[in-house]
Amino acid sequence: MSKSDSISMSVIRRLPRYYRFLSELDEQNVKRISSTGLADIMNVTASQVRQDLNCFGGFGQQGYGYSVGQLKKEIQNILGLNHSYQAVLIGAGNLGTAVVKHLDFQKMGFRLIGGFEIDPDKIGGTLGDIVISSETELESFCEVNRVDAAFLCIPKQSVDGTLERLYRLGIRCFWNFSHYDISVKYPDTVVENVHLSDSLMTLCYRMTNIAAENKI
Ligand code: NAI
Repeated sequence: MSKSDSISMSVIRRLPRYYRFLSELDEQNVKRISSTGLADIMNVTASQVRQDLNCFGGFGQQGYGYSVGQLKKEIQNILGLNHSYQAVLIGAGNLGTAVVKHLDFQKMGFRLIGGFEIDPDKIGGTLGDIVISSETELESFCEVNRVDAAFLCIPKQSVDGTLERLYRLGIRCFWNFSHYDISVKYPDTVVENVHLSDSLMTLCYRMTNIAAENKI
């Protein structure tokens, strides 16, 4: 069992945020930081920071704090960001285009190797470094390329058939923007659902409960 097997998902979900802040500190050439310093820039408590990082063995030293470079590297390893998981984009519309244009997949453990579309106007075009192919070519593409994950940027009503084919091709990992509940039909998949609307509704809740939160 690796040490991350016993770590709760709520801790794991905070790690990218630690990583982001540590990367910024690293870029500013900051060499070390205390748990209080890290807590301040992350707007959490120092005990939360210590508790989170203790799950992975601590990394800090009494009286010294954390080495920024070392902690960043440890978190990078825990998250597996050194991988080069090969991914395909399904749907090169507004969302798919924005995602490809604005994210540096390589820094996040992925390499985008192809895109698939049903729109004849998009097929044959390029998006960033990838060629957009007809989704009818999924099978032949997967025959010659290892595909570890699919990024689904298609409407919910288009997902069923394509997902079934991706599953048949052995793809079990999905970054899912489509609002389709993949894990109900395919429980053995690893799915990260992205719902921008959830974040906005949470903002709405917090604004509605501003008096209770008393932060703004
Ligand atoms: P869009 O219409 O610009 O792009 C969708 C693209 O998917 C089109 O180019 C279409 O030809 C293609 N497509 C449809 N079925 C396909 C299939 N089976 N295989 C390959 N390509 C296929 O729409 P947009 O704005 O990019 O949004 C895509 C979906 O993402 C929408 O259904 C929307 O509800 C959802 N969405 C989700 C968000 C989230 O936070 N999860 C935020 C915004 C949109």
